[in-house]
Parts: sequence; structure tokens; C-alpha cells
Amino acid sequence: MKILVTGCEGMLGRAVVARLGAHHVVRGVGLAQGDLTKPEHARSLVVNDPPEWIVNCAAWTGVDAAEDHRDEAMAANALIPANLAAVCGELGCGLTQISTDYVFPGNGDGFDEDSPRCPVNFYGLTKYRGEEAVQSMAAPWQIVRTSWLFGDGPQNFVRTITKLLRERPSLTVVNDQRGNPTYTEDLAAVLEHLVTGGYRGIFHGTNAGACTWFEFARAIAEENGCDPEGISPCASEQYPTPAARPRCSVLRSSRLEAVGCGPRPAWRDALHRYCGLLASGRAAFPLA
Ligand SMILES: NC(=O)c1ccc[n+]([C@@H]2O[C@H](COP(=O)([O-])OP(=O)(O)OC[C@H]3O[C@@H](n4cnc5c(N)ncnc54)[C@H](OP(=O)(O)O)[C@@H]3O)[C@@H](O)[C@H]2O)c1
Repeated sequence: MKILVTGCEGMLGRAVVARLGAHHVVRGVGLAQGDLTKPEHARSLVVNDPPEWIVNCAAWTGVDAAEDHRDEAMAANALIPANLAAVCGELGCGLTQISTDYVFPGNGDGFDEDSPRCPVNFYGLTKYRGEEAVQSMAAPWQIVRTSWLFGDGPQNFVRTITKLLRERPSLTVVNDQRGNPTYTEDLAAVLEHLVTGGYRGIFHGTNAGACTWFEFARAIAEENGCDPEGISPCASEQYPTPAARPRCSVLRSSRLEAVGCGPRPAWRDALHRYCGLLASGRAAFPLA
């Protein structure tokens, strides 16, 4: 297939280009090639070399910063998918929009693909608007919600905790937010299955299993040969952030299974592989 990957310099975009590029004709475009919030940039990037399918990994991903930079966050997360949807409609090519667990309110014990959306922060609202833009497309579309992403990139929770463990004897991490840590490599494999199958609709793509940030941090300590007891649990109220976070954003993935996407690796296994990559010296973004 001929596939265009937007946001190719981002954490997920890099993994998607690597995965799809092994089996398909892939063109990656980043911000340097055009600002996709501008309709004319989005259109010319696509029509000058039309793909069969676009995977949109370009986004504003600063959850807390979105509260203070509302226009920029909304432009990136709502206008980019809307602009791509318009040009896909013109050319008849498919679009995969990456979305987030943060479109959900966080009550209950998890969310299905068609659970009602009701974000608790502005970032979640911007991603919700992006979903709406894609859902109104006539051309084939997919929305793939993921969560708690980590992978070879400059910034993620695994890197942050690993660095903090080197600097401090003890850490406190919130233990009342629950989600599905997801390795970009494993999500890229899910995306390959969905794109090449041309399936339509909303899907949830995460690693298997759920945990709290505290449990995730302890697993990171174990991977780094540190004492997990050095990490203590706390409540969200003890760690205030500009953006509220859903208490539970676990994503159930029955639609993925229905389209033959086999069992995904457990998040603990995925973490082991990523920490192995960091330790190997082969990571594009090694720890300093
Ligand atoms: N990270 C997570 O934990 C997480 C969780 C759930 C869902 N997601 C979703 O997963 C997707 C990928 O996330 P990620 O962590 O890989 O993000 P990322 O590393 O921040 O990458 C996003 C990319 O989009 C580019 N971009 C931003 N604005 C642009 C514009 N106007 N035109 C063109 N490119 C633009 C950025 O370029 P610059 O870096 O040059 O600005 C960056 O390379 C996003 O849709 C995100 O909402 C992420």
C-alpha cells in the first residue's frame, strides 16, 4: 500500500513509519514539511503525491499545557484531522486518526469503543472534536484510541521515572488513576493490521492489562534493578496538575479482536522490551 504518515517525527509516528515502511511504500511528513492546521498545507502535502491511506500521528500532546494554550491545542487536535478528512474525501483515500483514552470521563471500570465520551480536561475535548471531524467523513476512516504511550522518543513516563530513580532515593506516584500502558511498537503493529485490512470504525489499541501510575513506576524500578519499595503511592489530590485526569481510563478492545487482531502483548512484557532497548544503546533517544 501507499501510505502517508503525518507527525512522523513524533514518538508514535517514528514507530509507525518504521513498522509500515518495512512492508509498504511509506512517506512520512513532519512539521518541517508543512503545518497541517493550515488547509492549504494539508492539501498540497497530500495531493502532490496521493496515498491510498493516511495515518495521522500529528497532534498536540501536552495534556497540562493544553489548558493554557487552548487555541493551539484545539487547532492541532481538531483542525488537522478535519483538514486531512477534507482532502481524503476529495481523493477517496482512507484516514486513521489516533485518539486517546482521555475522551472518556473516568468513572466506572473501563470503556468500550462506543461508550459515551465526556472528557474531563481540555486536551480530551480537543481530541473529541478531532474524532467528530473524522466520523463525519464519507471516505473510509478509522479512529484508534490509545493510552499511556511509551516508546523510543525524547519524553515519556518510563524515561521520566528512570531518570528520577537515579536522582532521588525515593519517589511518590499517584495510585488512583488506572489505565493501559502502551508501547508504540505494539500499537504500530495494531495499526498495520487495521490499515491493511481497511476496517472502518472506532478501535481501542493498547497493550494488554491495566495498572495505576504507581504500579507502572514500580515495574520501571524493577526493570532498572532498583528497589520498588522506594516508590510510594499517593492520591491525585497530593499531586495537583493543571489538567484533571480521569480516574479510570481503561480501554476495552473487543472490536479489535472482532477484526482478527490477535492478543496483544501484556504491558509488562512491552515495558521489558523498551527498557531492553534503552539499555542496549540502540535507541534513537537513549537515556543521557
Ligand atoms: N503520548 C501519549 O501518552 C498518548 C496517549 C494517548 C493518545 N496519544 C495520541 O497518540 C498520538 C501520537 O502521540 P505522540 O506521543 O507520538 O505525540 P508527539 O510525540 O508529540 O508527536 C506529535 C507530532 O505532531 C507534530 N505536530 C504538531 N503540530 C503539528 C502541525 N500543526 N502540523 C504538523 N505536525 C504537527 C509534532 O511536531 P513537533 O514536535 O515539531 O511540534 C510531533 O512530531 C496523538 O494523536 C496523541 O493524541 C498519545
